[in-house]
Amino acid sequence: MLTDLFGRQITYLRISVTDRCNFRCVYCMPPQGVPHVPHERIMRYEEIAAFVQVAARQGIRKVRITGGEPLVRADLPRLVEMISDIEEIEDISLTTNGILLEKYAGALAQAGLSRVNVSLDTLNPKKFARISRGGDLNKVLRGIEAAEIHGLTPIKINSVIMRGINDDELADLAKLTLNHPWNLRFIELMPIENQQPWGEGFPPPEDIFMPVSEVMALLRPLGLHPVELPGDSGPALPYRLDGGIGTVGFISPLTEQHFCQRCNRIRLTADGNLRPCLMSDLEIPVLPALRDGEPVLPLLIEAVHKKPISHQLDGHIVPSGRCMIQIGG
Ligand code: 5AD
Ligand code: SF4
Repeated sequence: MLTDLFGRQITYLRISVTDRCNFRCVYCMPPQGVPHVPHERIMRYEEIAAFVQVAARQGIRKVRITGGEPLVRADLPRLVEMISDIEEIEDISLTTNGILLEKYAGALAQAGLSRVNVSLDTLNPKKFARISRGGDLNKVLRGIEAAEIHGLTPIKINSVIMRGINDDELADLAKLTLNHPWNLRFIELMPIENQQPWGEGFPPPEDIFMPVSEVMALLRPLGLHPVELPGDSGPALPYRLDGGIGTVGFISPLTEQHFCQRCNRIRLTADGNLRPCLMSDLEIPVLPALRDGEPVLPLLIEAVHKKPISHQLDGHIVPSGRCMIQIGG
């Protein structure tokens, strides 16, 4: 079992498979984009699977595939299949912007994917295109439908909360759970290399942050009843609206005091670095060892042991090495 120095058991591995994306979301990357890692420095599927095999023997049970946008990488179902062949892995999920889900949901389900998380910050097509700098909302909604048809459920929907951008729509987003069995999660905007001026008519990032507590106050008239979800439901504390069939959750990495205490995860970047904490620049390279046929287990243990007790955002220490698109959220 992998246990860090603060007694947290690490059972969850998030794997970024690419630093590329077919969107350009304002909170994820600067307007000019970010330079791509050259292909030869991106982990091959065989290398990722070899690493997961080692991690699974140490107690990793859940794997999430992220990006960039994971579905822009060629033949992703092949990787899903390789990971689902690893006996100890009980759950494989995918975080996606949803734009290619219509095309791939069937193949992903066939390959052994358990479920998907889809990002959806607004229900207004024009606003959607502005936030994502060009994305097509209706195609994403069709993607979610396809995921549902192919049983990639329970579907989680991620909405990043942004004052002055989608705060007028939070109730409408929450109300999606009245008719859909979705787990919608409102996420506090995290400061990761996205503090540069957004331009394009957006308010400056520091004016946009809105705490979960305000969102909860806003949704209270709809009824917010705490529910227990089976198993490890992740960092969101789930609620049900009056008459709802899905759930509404709140992810508050910035304002919840004990958020980091429940952290059970470690990240692998597309270029083969273990990242113990999303909010810390610290990384341990594993790709050279994999390519040289050297053991990676000591590196995994080192990464777990270097997991910080929490982020340092209240001391205003924000990661500055990579944007969200380069880490995978
Ligand atoms: N703060 C909060 N959430 C973010 N995401 C991307 N960047 C940020 C940020 N700065 C979310 C996306 C997606 C998931 C991968 O992370 O909306 O749902
Ligand atoms: Fe792409 Fe997701 Fe980043 Fe948007 S948030 S640019 S969809 S990786």
